[in-house]
Parts: sequence; structure tokens; C-alpha cells
Amino acid sequence: MQQKDLLISYFELDSASELPPEERDLLNVAANSLKSAYVPYSHYQVGSAVLLENGVIVTGSNQENMAFPSGLCAERIALFSAASQYPGITIKSIAITAQSLDFPVNEPVTPCGACRQAIIEYEANQGKPIKLILGCETGKIIIVMKVGDILPLSFKEDMLKKKL
Ligand code: THU
Repeated sequence: MQQKDLLISYFELDSASELPPEERDLLNVAANSLKSAYVPYSHYQVGSAVLLENGVIVTGSNQENMAFPSGLCAERIALFSAASQYPGITIKSIAITAQSLDFPVNEPVTPCGACRQAIIEYEANQGKPIKLILGCETGKIIIVMKVGDILPLSFKEDMLKKKL
């Protein structure tokens, strides 16, 4: 048996003023889009904004449902919407931020496992990194340079295609 170690790097910023204008704007668009979140069950509003290489921004907010698994996270709504409206256009970055109706969200929101798995497939297909800009109410930000950094040992499409 051999131990293998993985090093995961990400960046923490104290405020959006440290971001380049393009990323600051994207995070603002994500914050604006959380206003349309439908969250009668969790009271946790998430907004997401996907920036494409052609400059287009596609937004999403989380939408819940009484049959809980039928709801969808903000980032997958934005991502799937971008991919269906602009197929083949490279995704540069995704901003995500959150606000709760019940308590202050003090730490940057990080995508759930299912969203990481969804994003990584587009990242692999386009062969270019998708940067994550993760925000919260205090202004603290986490930057992840590519989604693969927060989904090590991921299940990849080519694992389905091996011949015997
Ligand atoms: N949620 C998102 O939309 N994105 C995340 O990154 C984390 C969780 C949503 C799902 C659900 O509507 C609510 O937040 C609470 O989990």
C-alpha cells in the first residue's frame, strides 16, 4: 500500500476590490441574480453568473421544489442554460454567491459535489480551465483557478469508454 497526497490550491481575498474589474462585475451580476431564487424550503438564496469567451454572461438562481431532489442549484441552472444557448462557446469563469433569509452568510459559498461534477465535464470538453469566483455577504472571496482543483480523482467521461 502506498500513500498518495494531493495538494489543493485556492486563493482567499478579503474584498472584491482585490479582484480585476471583469471578475468583480461577474460577482455583482451573480449577487443580483440571487434575487430570483425560489427558496421556500432552505431560505438560502444562491446566484450564479457564467462568463463566456464571447463576453456573454448567463445567470442562474437556485430553484427549489417540494419534492426536494427536483430542485436545482444556481450554478447548474446557469451552466446548463449557457451550454444550451451558446453550445461550443468556451466558458471562462463562474461566479457564485449566497445570502440566507435566516442568518448572515459569512463564508464564500462552494459548489456542491453534483455541481462540481457538472462543471468539470465542460472544463474537460473545452480543454480550458473554468475559474470559480466564490462570494458571500461579508465580501470575503475564494478563487479556484480550475474546477478540477476542487474535484480531484473525479469520475471522467473516458472511464465509460474503455474496451475490454
Ligand atoms: N445551492 C446552490 O444553489 N448552490 C450551491 O453551491 C450550494 C447549494 C442551493 C441548493 C438549495 O436550493 C439551497 O442552496 C440549499 O442547499
